[in-house]
Amino acid sequence: MPSGTRADRARLEQLRDQLNHHLYRYHVLDDPEISDAAYDRLYAELVELEATHPDWVTPDSPTQRVGAEPVPGLAPVTHALPMLSLDNAHGDAELEAFDARLRRFVGRDEPIRYVGEPKYDGIAVELLYEDGLFVQGSTRGDGRVGEDITHNLRTVRSLPLKLRREISGSLEVRAEVFLPIAAFRELNRARLEAGLDPYANPRNSTAGALRQLDPRAAAERPMDLVCYGLGRGAESLSVRSQLELLERLAELGLRVSELVRPCESAAEAIAFHHELAERRDTLPFEIDGSVIKVDDFALRDELGQLNRSPRWAIAFKFPPRQETTRIEDIRTDVGRTGVLTPVAVLEPVQIGGVTVVHASLHNQDEIERLDVRIGDLVFVERAGDVIPKVVKVVHGERPDGTTPYRLPDTCPVCGSATVRLEDEVARRCPNLECPAQIKERLRHFASRRALDIEGLGEKLIDQLVERGDLERPSDIFELDSESLASLDRMGAKSADNLVAAIQRSRHTSLGRLLYGLGMRHVGERIAVVLAERARSLAGLTALTLEELEATDEIGPIIAASVRAFLDDQHNRDEIGRLERELEIEVPVTRKVPRAEVTDKVFVLTGALSAPRESFADRIRAAGGKVSSSVSKKTDFLVAGERAGSKLNKAEELGVRVIDETELEELLRA
Ligand code: IVH
Repeated sequence: MPSGTRADRARLEQLRDQLNHHLYRYHVLDDPEISDAAYDRLYAELVELEATHPDWVTPDSPTQRVGAEPVPGLAPVTHALPMLSLDNAHGDAELEAFDARLRRFVGRDEPIRYVGEPKYDGIAVELLYEDGLFVQGSTRGDGRVGEDITHNLRTVRSLPLKLRREISGSLEVRAEVFLPIAAFRELNRARLEAGLDPYANPRNSTAGALRQLDPRAAAERPMDLVCYGLGRGAESLSVRSQLELLERLAELGLRVSELVRPCESAAEAIAFHHELAERRDTLPFEIDGSVIKVDDFALRDELGQLNRSPRWAIAFKFPPRQETTRIEDIRTDVGRTGVLTPVAVLEPVQIGGVTVVHASLHNQDEIERLDVRIGDLVFVERAGDVIPKVVKVVHGERPDGTTPYRLPDTCPVCGSATVRLEDEVARRCPNLECPAQIKERLRHFASRRALDIEGLGEKLIDQLVERGDLERPSDIFELDSESLASLDRMGAKSADNLVAAIQRSRHTSLGRLLYGLGMRHVGERIAVVLAERARSLAGLTALTLEELEATDEIGPIIAASVRAFLDDQHNRDEIGRLERELEIEVPVTRKVPRAEVTDKVFVLTGALSAPRESFADRIRAAGGKVSSSVSKKTDFLVAGERAGSKLNKAEELGVRVIDETELEELLRA
């Protein structure tokens, strides 16, 4: 092997190990050692090396997580040992009865030692490792036969493609896959923005992702997993208890729950369960109870199993977050883009410690699907802190004289005739001057992710619009302390604070501003893409429909929506006013390809006047590539002071050596 090739190979292996290590630090230990940007750079370097040497790609390379082609269908997988389910307990008495049953069964007076774990509300899977490599993943299915979802599980970044210790033979690990609440919310936000119906809860969304045929679709939902058990191959770990097992799994690089607790008796298990319930709403994922397991494996063997569930464990469920109540009224809210959303006004009901008075009914189709009417008895569910929703109507309990509900033909706020566009599920008020739309647009403009004007909340905006002080975003910058101080619940001090917050918000980024304008289909991500493409408000107004469509990540629907917004004279006038009021920061990361630099490979060495990474970023921004080792493929070695072996090697290979000044010239050219 030529020495350059050997160096490439060594670097490739090093990158693979480093990246796997960082994935483990980030996703399993939740304790990253490098920034996301630094990770991305290492990843890009690996992609490049693998592209040059495709035969060196191994199945445990981090690039192999989403690389796979779609599968034609999900093949059946027979579980070597059946995946059992658990019996349930609903309350302390049932848990005590479970404990009494076990002690009677084995004829024991002294307390049994249990392990308490959270019961993750996700999808049960089995992971098969052969000689330490992840080779197959499957769903539970009916417990005996599940489905092959290897391609989708590979996208789960906390799942190690290779175990961190040598293990020969087969090892089957049982785990629960779930979508963290934040990822679920983000996913639904993006779906709503794209005009799609939101997913009902993280669990459904996980089930859907795991059954995708195309792993790229699964990869869009950043799932996580925790491991809690074993199938075949358990002997190879020679563990004697659940606590030992979890410790061993963690050593292998598998993620285990950080909320596990040894419990010396049923009473301690009950206490654990209640503490977990207290913490439920603060956890970043959904749990629906605890699982209480006998710790000692010898005792488990003695206890054995019932039909489809082991005798040694029980699912101790939290009280449901579903309740029944009556619908007192159905109200219609008008949103920022004029969309009419029906909201059920409920007879107040306690669900999981929260009083619920409203539940979303989404749209007319949903009302018809549920067949819900004012006066109905309904099931209301609260999942995480998502808005409560009506999940079912008890039709047998319907009072006499009800009529089907229809969204109004006129806007409840301004009285304009509402419309339902052909290809949309929503009914809208088309009047841009409708006070409801004006208020919502202002709220969105001032919100945290847009201009972030602290203190300019819903109530104030309502008053200011009603008083005629506010109509469009640019009016915000005309507000003064005096007039603000005369509003309800507003003193001189808060008025001054608000004016100061408004002043601070004048300095903003183009991305935030474009998001704040509230163009349809332009969420936070697309706003940043537009900002990078357009560079300024004037640049944006000048973009043609074709140019917008030709931009990465922007499809015809978004392009048409942006263009239509910009073609409206009122909007253009407002953009002009905002341009005068604001101090807009221009994005810095734009790629400006330079012919001399494009696709050229640079290596940086020696002491430079600024951190190496800052030069590397600029080289990449100009279309060049940066590598850390010198080879025949290197085009430029940028040598700073005290350059050492890389300089020697470059000279040996005849690679062009330049200094910092020459690099600056190339980047400026
Ligand atoms: S142990 C013999 N531990 O709950 C079955 N299961 O109703 C052993 N689950 O199918 C399961 N978190 O999908 C176990 N910490 C945990 C769990 C857990 C969630 C799920 C799993 C299982 C279902 C049983």
